[in-house]
Amino acid sequence: MLNLAVLGSGKGSNFVAIQKAIESGILAGKARVVLVASDHADAGILDRAREFGLPAEALPQSAFKTKLEPEIEAALASSIRRSGADLVVLAGYMRVVKAPLLEAFPERIVNIHPSILPAFKGLAAWKQALDAGVAETGCTVHWVNAEVDGGDVLGQERVPVLPGDTPETLHARIHEAEHRLYPAVLARLAVELGKV
Ligand code: GRF
Repeated sequence: MLNLAVLGSGKGSNFVAIQKAIESGILAGKARVVLVASDHADAGILDRAREFGLPAEALPQSAFKTKLEPEIEAALASSIRRSGADLVVLAGYMRVVKAPLLEAFPERIVNIHPSILPAFKGLAAWKQALDAGVAETGCTVHWVNAEVDGGDVLGQERVPVLPGDTPETLHARIHEAEHRLYPAVLARLAVELGKV
């Protein structure tokens, strides 16, 4: 089994898609979630984790917005290690991952980003795509390294940009693709990492 620690800051719809795929889909018998952690105590992802009966952990409040204090990130790394996770899965985690986590889990942290990387790195990638007037965009699962949205690509799914799209309609279409792509890539990694 591939043991997953999922980190998120928001609603947690990608976590839910992964957990559903574990319960009755492409990840059944291949993976399990051993920890869900969030930098926001009131994030929906923690409520969803508790609804599934999974360990849910809120990090102490940080003075920063886009990163964690090194000691908070080091405590998070220890907690992930204690959970027995093989892979750290970022699912809407809005902090830049720094040395304490990167060094604790080299080549073992993955992220999903709402664009076809390397296009539209950074925040609100769906809005960047709309503003650029491209005909299609999508989502990417990639390894995490010190360069934001810069690690090697593990998988991508394209979606069209349709006439009349708003940031909300386009983001919703990308989200649907994310919910297919993330479980599919994790299922492949479970095999590639020798866990099934
Ligand atoms: C997704 O669009 C993901 O690509 C981005 O953050 C969003 C997370 O959504 N990194 P959710 O919390 O999984 O619903």
